[in-house]
Amino acid sequence: MLSYQHMYHAGGLADVHKHAVLAVMLEKLSAKPKSLTYVETHAGRGLYDLGAPEAGKTGEAAEGILHLLKQGDLPADHAYARLIAACRAAHGPHAYPGSPWIARQALRDNDRIHLCELHPREVVALRETMGRRAQIQQKDGYQDVLRRAPFDPRRGFVLIDPSYEVKSEYRDAADFVLALHRKWPVATILLWYPVLEKALHKDMVDRVNDAGLPKTWSQEVLFDPTRRSRALGSGLLSVNTPFGIEAALDHVATLF
Ligand SMILES: C[S@@+](CC[C@H](N)C(=O)[O-])C[C@H]1O[C@@H](n2cnc3c(N)ncnc32)[C@H](O)[C@@H]1O
Repeated sequence: MLSYQHMYHAGGLADVHKHAVLAVMLEKLSAKPKSLTYVETHAGRGLYDLGAPEAGKTGEAAEGILHLLKQGDLPADHAYARLIAACRAAHGPHAYPGSPWIARQALRDNDRIHLCELHPREVVALRETMGRRAQIQQKDGYQDVLRRAPFDPRRGFVLIDPSYEVKSEYRDAADFVLALHRKWPVATILLWYPVLEKALHKDMVDRVNDAGLPKTWSQEVLFDPTRRSRALGSGLLSVNTPFGIEAALDHVATLF
């Protein structure tokens, strides 16, 4: 099922959480000279227009990144703020970076980028945004990434950002994290999930936590209920979390 379109939700509170943490982690990982492989199972279109009717229809960006910037709550020297500024400088004042654009900007020429996206229209837009900088597959992200892992270079980062349109995606995401870690034990894995009233994420998070994977980190933030969003809050969990960014990750939670 491919009814989900991220252009309605880009720049919303969930994106702020996910992208701020992604920016912090990639900044840390790219500080070391050794090359990195960046992989995404669910890439989206890579670049969004917050002035588009889709963004206006839900108002999520207005309550998310635009509100944060207007309030001045995000320090200008924060890795995420610098990425947004770079995106606006390159693509205009209404541009908002998706995770592939963030990766391209944060990484170096010697790093590789592999992206999966299933929706035909999103794939076209993603290819246009990323050009030759990324290898893009119009395939199921779980199957394709699992088949190809471990990637070269071995030092890796995998973002898993499904739309959770159907309940079974929580089980699929947990299965994938556990299987991917078995095949590619050194990769950093970052999984996003929504916090909903029904707490559908609970079993998924418990399964990953109970597996005893190395250097795990997790963070759940609840949104101000007066601010529009698809969910009550947002959750992230990571495996092989980069060392020395605890304070920066804690700071992200204070943005909500
Ligand atoms: C939440 S959006 C991704 C947003 C993006 N990661 C970002 O932060 O900018 C999820 C995307 O996954 C795509 N998708 C859904 N099922 C998929 C699958 N099995 N494999 C790859 N992509 C899929 C959807 O078309 C949608 O564009």
